[in-house]
Amino acid sequence: MSKKIAKKIVVGNWKMNPLSLKEAEKLFINIAKSVSNFKKTGIIVCLPFLYLEKLKSTSQRTKKISLGAQDVFWEDAGAYTGEISGDMLYDIGAKYVIVGHSERREMGESNNDVNKKVKAAIRAGLVPVLCVGESMRDKNHEYLNFIKTQVIECLNGVSKNFISKVIIAYEPIWAIGKGAYPATPEEFREMNIFIRKILSDKFGVKIVEDIKIIYGGSVDEKNTEGFIKAGYADGFLVGRASLNPKKFSEIIKICEASDK
Ligand code: 13P
Repeated sequence: MSKKIAKKIVVGNWKMNPLSLKEAEKLFINIAKSVSNFKKTGIIVCLPFLYLEKLKSTSQRTKKISLGAQDVFWEDAGAYTGEISGDMLYDIGAKYVIVGHSERREMGESNNDVNKKVKAAIRAGLVPVLCVGESMRDKNHEYLNFIKTQVIECLNGVSKNFISKVIIAYEPIWAIGKGAYPATPEEFREMNIFIRKILSDKFGVKIVEDIKIIYGGSVDEKNTEGFIKAGYADGFLVGRASLNPKKFSEIIKICEASDK
């Protein structure tokens, strides 16, 4: 597992929440307050595009939280109505961007599209948080082939120089959202080892030691420790719990305690 860089990463994905800029500011400030004593964990909040500009100055003031977006277009500029480029995101204060989230893949995004987005993010100086995850598990372990294809196709053409900048989020679709159950730490551990092996075959063992592989899907303050201790998670991609400053900061507190 990734021993070289102990520091954990916690990425909050606000999805399409909250519904007004005022509420977004309030939520962000409350999160910033509740994480103000933490020193070691990388804290990132991925906001709806519209809130990035306003919250840039708040995040600079508080210093603890980096901003991210939830998607990016693969072209750098031009006639692409409704799209937002990596350079635009970087300019407005984003440092990270989620790519290939299952909720976007469900709307038709292919591995090829995600691959172009990963490369566009890297070109713009953003850190891509690449999401992979199967919709169901089968007895023949076909889901492993599915994940392998996702990892290989989404990282196609990414050079060795940049691969350690990519964060991989294993987020099984069956574990996401209200009413779903998280994966077990053991299920995550299996996938963590498997993804790391795919990456080392492609990019070499040395580089891959630095890559963060994080878990997402019904993460909360109660299951965080298990994923770190038994799953060797390098961090988390958090949905619902990232909208609750208390729960989100508890998750980070547990990460801090594990990075001795
Ligand atoms: P939940 O944590 O709400 O299950 O969402 C997970 C997710 O999709 C984060 O990207």
